[in-house]
Amino acid sequence: MTYFTGNMKKMLMINGSPRSNGSSSEILDIIEDKVSSKGYECERIDLGMLKIMHCKGCRSCKSTGKCVTKDDMTPLYEKVQNADAITISVPVYFAAETGLLKNFIDRLYALMDRNEKGWNVRFGKVKKGVAAINCGAPDGNMIYHGMMNHLVTILRTFGSTDVASGIIPNASPDTIHDSQFTKDLLSGIDFLMSS
Ligand SMILES: Cc1cc2nc3c(=O)[nH]c(=O)nc-3n(C[C@H](O)[C@H](O)[C@H](O)COP(=O)(O)O)c2cc1C
Repeated sequence: MTYFTGNMKKMLMINGSPRSNGSSSEILDIIEDKVSSKGYECERIDLGMLKIMHCKGCRSCKSTGKCVTKDDMTPLYEKVQNADAITISVPVYFAAETGLLKNFIDRLYALMDRNEKGWNVRFGKVKKGVAAINCGAPDGNMIYHGMMNHLVTILRTFGSTDVASGIIPNASPDTIHDSQFTKDLLSGIDFLMSS
């Protein structure tokens, strides 16, 4: 795990796989190389190394602004609020994101306030988002568009006005560097970072 230190722009990188050395992690390495060259400092969160409970749906956070559950999610709220950009890298599990990632996302409900104008999202400065999905199916780039749209919607809810996304099918840590789908995602990130 790396940590934010300096005054550079910050990208929070979420590994939604339980495997910290799998394809999702490799993709984050590749993205980190790319965005570091664009002046971003990256911090990696391996959700598989943490114990994050599901959201209880108690809505206490709507009056206190804080989640009642104290666990490994607690320090992550500040990290999300301090980030300029968020990357989510996640494998497909039964045509959806992993439960690990879903728990993390649901717990971010504590940073959302309802007011007379709608939702006020306390995600600080997040302006750019990346959704990188990988899966075993060779045709996954064609069949998991619904999941990609869902993650893009979540990143927009978190405040990202600009989002790059991609699905890398037939993924394995050994081949992911050379996949045309990885290269296409990197081109999208290039464009995202230059806007
Ligand atoms: C529980 C489980 C469910 C999975 N479901 C799917 C699926 O629905 N579609 C698919 O294409 N791959 C599926 N896979 C394969 C993973 O998405 C694929 O191996 C991915 O590259 C693993 O990423 P990782 O190395 O970062 O963990 C599944 C794997 C597991 C362990």
